[in-house]
Amino acid sequence: MMALQVSSVTKSYPGPDGPVPVLKGVSLSLEPGERVALMGPSGSGKSTLLNCVGGIDRPDGGSIEIAGEDLGGLDEEGLCRLRRQTVSTVFQFFHLLPTLSARENIEFPLLLNGVAESERAARVAALVDEVGLAHRASAMPHELSGGEMQRVAIARALAIEPRLILADEPTGNLDSTTGEAILDLLAALGERHGTAMLVVTHSPQVPRICHRTVEMRDGQLLATEKPA
Ligand SMILES: Nc1ncnc2c1ncn2[C@@H]1O[C@H](COP(=O)(O)OP(=O)(O)OP(=O)(O)O)[C@@H](O)[C@H]1O
Ligand SMILES: [Mg+2]
Repeated sequence: MMALQVSSVTKSYPGPDGPVPVLKGVSLSLEPGERVALMGPSGSGKSTLLNCVGGIDRPDGGSIEIAGEDLGGLDEEGLCRLRRQTVSTVFQFFHLLPTLSARENIEFPLLLNGVAESERAARVAALVDEVGLAHRASAMPHELSGGEMQRVAIARALAIEPRLILADEPTGNLDSTTGEAILDLLAALGERHGTAMLVVTHSPQVPRICHRTVEMRDGQLLATEKPA
């Protein structure tokens, strides 16, 4: 079973002279544990595709399956469950909850999923360790550096043990050294947990940690580049 199967997805947004097509028949598959970099010019439709895959937005046509589940068959509640249990997103600006500590941010999705307290404690302890933040776990987000905040966000994304992680410019707000470290961490965790990752980026550093790079041009996927 594929971690992600996008088939002939189309999407338009309303414009002054009628609908403006943004995705023009996009197809893309990710195997379990596969990491794919999604590159391409600004406005080409990368975030729109990511939003459709993450169940935040809906395509007009085509289909999206995550771990065998067809998103088209899900109502709002079903999409909500999908976002809580199957697919996680990592953002450029981290999106941590400002009033919760690092540890509590990581625990939060497990609370939403009704995971028992002892299990929550065990998973959170393992994750803060894996992202190298055991010594900062009680800190509040405003007390953390950008790189540390992204480590918390990555641990939070992994907490639900998702089949797929979507990342939109995960290093876009980090200096290049910190960005490299975050990419290495993503790759290591993807390998260890068998999590597929679709990483939208302008950064030429990202393809290094991915199995494949695909390029969006004006709503269509162009090249599929296999690594050397
Ligand atoms: N909610 C929306 N309503 C109307 N138009 C939208 C909406 N979201 C995106 N668009 C348009 O769709 C096109 C693709 O946008 P998208 O955000 O997917 O690009 P992108 O490839 O992620 O660009 P960037 O690299 O700058 O993030 C753009 O022309 C944008 O203006
Ligand atoms: Mg974008």
